[in-house]
Amino acid sequence: MANGVPPSTRRSFLAGAAGALAASALATGCRKHRDAITLGLYAALTGSMADFGTASRNGVTLAAEEINAAGGLLGKPLYIAIEDTRGDSAEAASAVTRLIHIEGAVGILGEVASSLSLAGGRICQRYRVPMVSPSSTNPAVTALGDCVFRVCFIDPFQGDVMARFARHTLNFSRVAIFKEQGSAYAVGLADAFRRAFTRLGGTIPTEQAYRSGDTHFSAQLGTILAQNPEGIFCPGYYTEAALIAREARGQGFRGRFMGGDGWSSPSLVQNDDNQLVGDFYSVGFAPDGATTEVARRFARNFQAKFHYAPNDLAALAYDATLAMAQAITRAGAAVPERIRAELARTRNLDGATGLISLNEHRDAVKSAVILEVHENSADYRTTVNP
Ligand code: PHE
Repeated sequence: MANGVPPSTRRSFLAGAAGALAASALATGCRKHRDAITLGLYAALTGSMADFGTASRNGVTLAAEEINAAGGLLGKPLYIAIEDTRGDSAEAASAVTRLIHIEGAVGILGEVASSLSLAGGRICQRYRVPMVSPSSTNPAVTALGDCVFRVCFIDPFQGDVMARFARHTLNFSRVAIFKEQGSAYAVGLADAFRRAFTRLGGTIPTEQAYRSGDTHFSAQLGTILAQNPEGIFCPGYYTEAALIAREARGQGFRGRFMGGDGWSSPSLVQNDDNQLVGDFYSVGFAPDGATTEVARRFARNFQAKFHYAPNDLAALAYDATLAMAQAITRAGAAVPERIRAELARTRNLDGATGLISLNEHRDAVKSAVILEVHENSADYRTTVNP
């Protein structure tokens, strides 16, 4: 297997009408899908962020199947080549390189975690292949250059949303921050929250950090609990968030936890031992808050195909695929530079997550949804408009 990637971590599929073509292409070892238009998805399908990759892949798969059922793009089937990043930046960069040079992808979908989109986006920018991140919210991602787009909101907005919620809805004046150090997303979101919360008259009595993969947090939590905060804002990802909640409750914390979209995973409520029940985090979409016809149809079709309700990641990945597909159609040719130019003109795309227009920074300006954690699910609480 090219680049020493074990076969079990490589995933490829061809949706709908084009299935037979994929089977023959794989059987002959030929990975240039000449009769199809190829898009590449890079996602964490294994490792501590594997839920992100699974949700994204399912959203992209549904979109590709619908596109192929409706006749494909420019008279050709749409083929999605998929590479596992394992949640690692170096792996993300080589995944994108393989998608472009081995699979022949004319556009790239991914990643979820901002640090990985920064690694993959640099490759896209270097080879001038357009990339749409469904869900990376750190501002630096699209600032990489004119080839990098996103269909989600950015963290200055998300931090503001959670700061307002903490200050005005929960009436908190003292909130500690406990962030993942070394994560572009977590560090940026912590900054945004701190700025907004202090501007609203709140104080941040202490700001502590952990590392990805940590399983013990008692030293930092001890420092935080000594300040007796009403809440702890915890920007990072779901695996550590569930562990932090369990340990903090064990150490006697009775206040509220708050997080951002990095908590979004079915594993959060499975692994938190109910210690996050009554706590809150922000996301870009919730099926139980879906109001538009497209959003409801997406949620229905996703449920029918995968037998569980889609989360924000699945919906955003679906929308990223639609944005790329519509750009290809408008470009009239599967040529990266022309697709890039059309992506920049994305306006009022009627997606699963709402109407998407990309601004001059190649970012979407969208509403956020706040979810409340219950015993076995996280459910819609409120929508906050930009
Ligand atoms: N916004 C996160 C990041 O930039 C990724 C994420 C989005 C994770 C949505 C879960 C849900 O790293």
